[in-house]
Amino acid sequence: MDGNGRWAQKRGLPRTEGHAAGEEALVDTVNGALDIGVKWLTMFAFSTENWKRPVDEVRFLMGFNSSLLERRRDELHEKGVRIRFMGRRDWRVPKKATATMVRSEEMTAQNRTLTLTMAFNYGGRTEIIDAVKSIVEQNIPAKNINEHTIKSHLYLPDQPDPDLLIRTSGEYRLSNFLLWQAAYTELVFTPVLWPDFRRQHLFEAIEEYQRRDRRFGEIRQDNSIPHPNENSESRKMRVQP
Ligand code: IPE
Ligand code: MG
Repeated sequence: MDGNGRWAQKRGLPRTEGHAAGEEALVDTVNGALDIGVKWLTMFAFSTENWKRPVDEVRFLMGFNSSLLERRRDELHEKGVRIRFMGRRDWRVPKKATATMVRSEEMTAQNRTLTLTMAFNYGGRTEIIDAVKSIVEQNIPAKNINEHTIKSHLYLPDQPDPDLLIRTSGEYRLSNFLLWQAAYTELVFTPVLWPDFRRQHLFEAIEEYQRRDRRFGEIRQDNSIPHPNENSESRKMRVQP
């Protein structure tokens, strides 16, 4: 969810106003995803690198994210959204924010309409480091280590690799997001700043995704060779609700 600061700057507002304006984008995007039957949606909310920002902005983001969750979770719960978090829950995350996250996860744990994952205090490299640590701690012999071993030690092992990744605000990088999982993800870049992002932009990105030819390293002129991922929900998504 990138571009909040620039959105605010363009209007002569403090950066925090941009973060606040991002709430509407989040709500509309989640509702749009629900309308077209997206099953998995992951949002990058706060990275392991974002701690380097001025302390006031970090403090605002912690408080804002946790109050947003408190304001919105009942409505999400009613719509069948399972809320999850991925990232490190270290000492820098205020206790109140952690408690709100845990409570929201518990409250919505049985929901399956849409799994909404908030990447919070998340970094792709940190996730891989944590996976390696846990593999070593379990004394898994080197000869037994394969892709599945790594995947099963990531923060959310049951989460499928993303079919589509949308980067907002005209930047062309992954910025440490889902590094392992995005190996074959289709990337869509949009100049739209996050506070201006709406469901229509999600639908446009999905339409772009549907025009792509995914080969996963194979050579295929047609779609006759099924790939395991081809049964994934995104293939069946209707863009128009
Ligand atoms: C995204 O907007 C929000 C977070 C990363 C927390 P930015 O704050 O990165 O906005 P820009 O990139 O400065 O415009
Ligand atoms: Mg940014």
